[in-house]
Amino acid sequence: MQDTPHIPVMLDEVLSNLNIKDNGVYVDGTFGNGGYTSAILDAKNTKVIAFDRDETVLFKVNELKSKYGERFIFFQEKFSQILPTLLKNGIGGVDGLVLDIGVSSMQIDTPERGFSFRFDAPLSMAMGKNDLDAKEVINNFSESELSDIFYKYGEEPRSRAIAKRIVSIRGQKPVLTTFELVGIIKNLVGEWQASKVIPRIFQALRIYVNDELGELENVLKDSEQILKSGGRLVVVDFHSLEDRIVKNFIKSKTEVKQTLSRYIPTNIENNKKLSFKSVNKNAIIPSRREVEMNYRAHSAKLRVVEKA
Ligand SMILES: C[S@@+](CC[C@H](N)C(=O)[O-])C[C@H]1O[C@@H](n2cnc3c(N)ncnc32)[C@H](O)[C@@H]1O
Repeated sequence: MQDTPHIPVMLDEVLSNLNIKDNGVYVDGTFGNGGYTSAILDAKNTKVIAFDRDETVLFKVNELKSKYGERFIFFQEKFSQILPTLLKNGIGGVDGLVLDIGVSSMQIDTPERGFSFRFDAPLSMAMGKNDLDAKEVINNFSESELSDIFYKYGEEPRSRAIAKRIVSIRGQKPVLTTFELVGIIKNLVGEWQASKVIPRIFQALRIYVNDELGELENVLKDSEQILKSGGRLVVVDFHSLEDRIVKNFIKSKTEVKQTLSRYIPTNIENNKKLSFKSVNKNAIIPSRREVEMNYRAHSAKLRVVEKA
């Protein structure tokens, strides 16, 4: 495994928006390299329950366990499993839930995991606890399924042509590596276009293989039960598909719409209780200085709400 440390994105903003208190209990749904977890544990006398689906984070988990002892608990689980896991372990509402969506630098920079089109590796892209990998999708899914995946999760205008070409090539020989897939795309769209198309196709496959958007929708829905009253939900996301889900969720849970009587507040679906209060109307973005120091932060958006 390549030893690329993951630099936590918008760390100061995450800490201040989580509103960390002494004796507070916080859930870090995307442990990664433990950047947020360590900072929450260092900030005050807190407890952190962390989750990550990827077993390769366990070396860092062990390091933090020996440093923080019982103040730190870890589950190798998907974040859609946070609520059932907490309930199973008798853990009630927590003071904060933070999610830093997407892949870590360690994952993307480890060639053999197949996340990156910069390295030749088996087509995998599985983050952990997966039902399938990219090799299976590319070689077994129908042309229209592939085209839908590229269009929906990569917003790729040439999704149909790319799917058609993949199906034709795999009829002669299975497509097994990242560079084979890169070669097929380059051949079809040309070197110049390929620099835009390849990242979109890889993003689409990664999102699909890991059901990233479904995972996000599930944890957001569960956050109402995960948090206690006054608890904060802080989400850092990195692309428009994720951000749309977070923004719409927050809107549906916080926005007051005028009804027939202007004295009765309801949310968009009418008469449902508003379960969250808005903390920041707009997304918070990283400072120019942070982006200069860590380019990965350039597309980050932080959104925060408080359980009512
Ligand atoms: C961007 S990194 C988090 C970095 C972390 N905030 C830090 O400061 O070190 C995202 C992590 O979330 C994990 N992850 C992504 N989707 C997940 C999911 N649905 N359930 C659990 N973990 C997930 C990935 O495996 C990865 O380790």
